[in-house]
Amino acid sequence: MLSLHGKIVAITGASGGIGEATARLLAQRGAAVVLAARRGERVNAIAQDIREAGGRAAACVVDVTKPEDLQRLVSSTIDQFGRIDVLVNNAGIAPISPLAALDTEGWSAMIDVNLRGMLNGVAAALPVFRAQGSGHLVSIVSVAGLSVSPSMAVYAATKNAVRTVHEGLRTESTDGVVRTTAISPGYVRTDLAGSMADPHIREQTRKNMEAMGIPPSAVARAVAFAIEQPDDVEIGEINVRPTVQA
Ligand SMILES: NC(=O)c1ccc[n+]([C@@H]2O[C@H](COP(=O)([O-])OP(=O)(O)OC[C@H]3O[C@@H](n4cnc5c(N)ncnc54)[C@H](OP(=O)(O)O)[C@@H]3O)[C@@H](O)[C@H]2O)c1
Repeated sequence: MLSLHGKIVAITGASGGIGEATARLLAQRGAAVVLAARRGERVNAIAQDIREAGGRAAACVVDVTKPEDLQRLVSSTIDQFGRIDVLVNNAGIAPISPLAALDTEGWSAMIDVNLRGMLNGVAAALPVFRAQGSGHLVSIVSVAGLSVSPSMAVYAATKNAVRTVHEGLRTESTDGVVRTTAISPGYVRTDLAGSMADPHIREQTRKNMEAMGIPPSAVARAVAFAIEQPDDVEIGEINVRPTVQA
């Protein structure tokens, strides 16, 4: 019987959406979870809720663009639960716009959060995984990187860069110590559109999410599936999209 019981999992971007749903599901299934995000009051309240329901959970205020915050997330996870089995790199933003809009600030922000944030997690977790003799990096990527729609170029580029780092880490980890999983959602009903500065794109994205988006729990189940596999089984990539999404 596959099980998450006893797994120690740190999750970035856990103050809402896919990260929150993942923390709640993994805790229900027996993992200890550390919820990380910038909004401390949110992650603290969700962790408290999980504990009141009988789960094991802690919270950590983290800005993934700061390498020292990821180091602190990994060390506080070990301090509280003894080790870190999985880092779920989920924090992400999507201030998307056509390239012609030249939103260079939005481009930089996506590179900083979506790509550099992931690399900051790798830098913090990889030495610990190797010292422990095991570890699992799970990233929430996007189907937006698989076929690139208008306004999505830079967002898709950051997500594809993350996918590439995963493949690189996989090929460098064939000694069996580190597993990697990249999970690509389609439309999921979350607050992600809130990070979109362009009002027209924001409203259109919200409409698409309302019309066809799947719940964040659908992605959480994919994370659980990847994590619960035995140590010699690596789930490399999963796409989870609404059945009706083109
Ligand atoms: N929703 C979709 O349709 C969809 C589709 C494909 C991929 N994704 C990906 O799924 C992931 C989760 O997004 P979501 O849809 O659940 O959106 P969301 O509800 O907006 O959640 C995003 C999370 O990222 C956190 N975050 C943003 N910047 C951060 C930073 N600098 N440091 C730490 N945490 C940060 C936010 O927390 P704070 O604001 O509290 O820091 C929040 O918890 C993202 O990587 C997104 O690109 C989403």
